[in-house]
Amino acid sequence: MNVKPSKRMEQFSPAIFGDLKQAAHKKAAAGFDIFDLSLGSPDLPPADIVREKLSEASADEKMYGYTLGGIDRFNEAVADYYKRRSDVHIDPHTEVIQTMGSQEGIVHLPLAFCDKGDIVLTTDPAYVAYDIGIKLAEAEPYHMPLTAENNFLPDLKAIPKDIVERAKLLILNLPGNPVPATPTTEYFEEVVAFAKEHNILVLHDAAYSEYYFEGDKPVSFLSTPGAKDVGLEINSLSKSFSLAGARIAYIVGNREAISIMRQLKSNLDYGTFAPIQEAAIVALDHAEEITDRLRATFSERYHIVMDGMKELGWETADSSGGMFVWAKFPHDMNDIDFVFHVIDEVGVVLVPGSIFGPAGKGFVRIALVQEPEVLKGAIEQLKKLPKA
Ligand SMILES: Cc1ncc(COP(=O)(O)O)c(C=O)c1O
Repeated sequence: MNVKPSKRMEQFSPAIFGDLKQAAHKKAAAGFDIFDLSLGSPDLPPADIVREKLSEASADEKMYGYTLGGIDRFNEAVADYYKRRSDVHIDPHTEVIQTMGSQEGIVHLPLAFCDKGDIVLTTDPAYVAYDIGIKLAEAEPYHMPLTAENNFLPDLKAIPKDIVERAKLLILNLPGNPVPATPTTEYFEEVVAFAKEHNILVLHDAAYSEYYFEGDKPVSFLSTPGAKDVGLEINSLSKSFSLAGARIAYIVGNREAISIMRQLKSNLDYGTFAPIQEAAIVALDHAEEITDRLRATFSERYHIVMDGMKELGWETADSSGGMFVWAKFPHDMNDIDFVFHVIDEVGVVLVPGSIFGPAGKGFVRIALVQEPEVLKGAIEQLKKLPKA
């Protein structure tokens, strides 16, 4: 049999991460140390109480059935967490839906709200899953550039009128991946007014909401007056609670939109393994103590890398949160060639900015997912690069 991919598959090119891994393996096999700052997978262990709950629940024979839309206590734990963290009231029955990781929710959501040819407003650069979901729904992305002049917040006023008229959905991600810009109340107020005026549903991806280093926590989109009329927030237990492999997340907000997502999801899957939901409830119920530890760790790492960038003379986007440093390297090379050159020369693995969109050309994303010694080692290695 001649097995052939569909035409649709042409849009889904393999991710570059496999090639980076291969180049790093080659370097390691030649006896060099590798400093891998590529993947944004949390390296801290989940809290003991979360793992204990998971083992206890997994031992219970009654925990192995389909869970469909999820267990009610999970939705209540999400609502309690929103109330405590952001003083936002969420109705656990109508304003929460569980997803199997936020990637699943993000990729499927445009199917529920966009028809062929509708526009989805997203950013350049952006987390790559947004475009995947948009393509699956046969909608069209419009990428709003993120620039230093606008503090890396998309400029809604710069979107052409005909694009705004065709737009059905606006996707935002603050603090973001790959650019760790922080949301402000004023900015979210502008988003709500824009969405209301043009009847555009907003999806705010808050995957890094608990990663902030000093000062105030990033505001929840839903804490903006009127936000629930126009939008949704998606958040995940992957990053904040180191549960990336457990695949559990949720969408909260506008009840009509949640109900439409429920209808779609009821056709797609039968829910997350119950012990994972039980463990996630424990995590959400203890969010403050768990995420305090995370912040202390990532704050230290962030400062190590930012100090290193200054010494190296690489320009960085200032930030007060997120899991990444977004840096412009001063070498006259395109970013894809540059990252392979860096692996080859000094064994440091970075992610080329252009995989997140054309505005990422000339930048690299540095993930803060290693111990301080590894981060310091990576900076020392980068200092050995031949001068630009
Ligand atoms: C901005 C952003 N959103 C969502 C996700 C998906 O996370 P998960 O599917 O583990 O919840 C990621 C993962 O890297 C991300 O960076």
